Amino acid sequence: MAHSLLWLLVINHYKGFLANAWVANSLLMTGPKAYLTYATSVQLGTQNGIEECKHQFAWDRWNCPDSAVQLRGMRSATRETSFVHAISAAGVMYTLTRNCSLGDLGNCGCDVSKNGKIGGRGWLWGGCSDNVDFGERISKQYVDAQETGQDSRAAVNLHNNEAGRKAVKATMKRICRCHGMSESCSVKTCWTQLSDFRDIGNYLKEKHGRAQKLELDQKRMRAANNADNRGAIADAFSDLARTELIYLEDSPDYCRKNTTLGLHGTEGRECLQQQQQHGYELSQQWGRRSCRRLCHDCGLRVEERRAEVASSCNCKFHWCCKVNCEDCSQVIVKHVCAKREGANGHVYRKRHRAPK
Ligand SMILES: *[C@@H]1O[C@H](CO)[C@@H](O)[C@H](O)[C@H]1NC(C)=O
Ligand SMILES: *[C@@H]1O[C@H](CO)[C@@H](O)[C@H](O)[C@H]1NC(C)=O
Repeated sequence: MAHSLLWLLVINHYKGFLANAWVANSLLMTGPKAYLTYATSVQLGTQNGIEECKHQFAWDRWNCPDSAVQLRGMRSATRETSFVHAISAAGVMYTLTRNCSLGDLGNCGCDVSKNGKIGGRGWLWGGCSDNVDFGERISKQYVDAQETGQDSRAAVNLHNNEAGRKAVKATMKRICRCHGMSESCSVKTCWTQLSDFRDIGNYLKEKHGRAQKLELDQKRMRAANNADNRGAIADAFSDLARTELIYLEDSPDYCRKNTTLGLHGTEGRECLQQQQQHGYELSQQWGRRSCRRLCHDCGLRVEERRAEVASSCNCKFHWCCKVNCEDCSQVIVKHVCAKREGANGHVYRKRHRAPK
């Protein structure tokens, strides 16, 4: 008992020393050199965000921009762009925080500021808490810097970036370890750790479902000069929870391809047919993935595509040490949204009463 406490004290003292060394180091890391140090990780973090977006929206009509470059080209502030901003800002914060804990970055380490202090009943702070404050700072520095405008759209984007970073913090977990004689748990130390990025994606997908449209006082906005404009924006934001996603414009028709808006439409997208329902316990989830939503409701038909996939099979082990397999082929059936035959998209246009 006394022995393990002493051990804790030594460790904490050592970590305190590391933390101080880190502070001194990070003061030296400013300017273009620091900028370059993080740039690659920032890029990776953004890409992680986009990939998570693709997973979350895999069965939706809109399924995310292809890359971070396309992200910068999005000039509207819809419910969907609110998600992209949040998940990208979260992705950068997450990646940089992880990098920090893993010791990838020379000037940054675990958050040990609370170590040795009492955290709650029966436990002390200890171990390597993920340094989210560092990740948050870098995310603000790099991601928020993309918003240079003074208009309401920039304000909305910045708000959603912040909501993404709040999601990283809100999903963090406390992990504990027991110490003491034969794991009697007479001393327990805990630290906070990032959740899987998937959990952050799930969390933000829910926020996307509940996103609020920001109603700005348009008359006041038009009448005011630029400085007052910012006042009107600030007013509109004052009631909003910083954890919620917000948007300004209604979503465009995601069924349709629109190259100006960078939208692919749902033609060519894979969907699930009724008979593939086995294994989907939640009917709601099934409905979301159905070909009806992606194809039929968008004026497209469902095309069955068969692909032959080669794989190894009937493998036999021969003493010793060889494995012989046969080549087998398996037919995989996929369902994909396709244009109606002969209609050339005509039926579709009529259904949606779009202007010629
Ligand atoms: C940060 O982490 C990612 C993987 O999460 C890794 O690919 C990248 O190389 C790391 N950055 C640095 C500077 O080591
Ligand atoms: C694409 O979207 C823009 C803006 O909403 C609209 O003006 C344009 O007509 C659309 N183009 C097509 C081909 O639908």
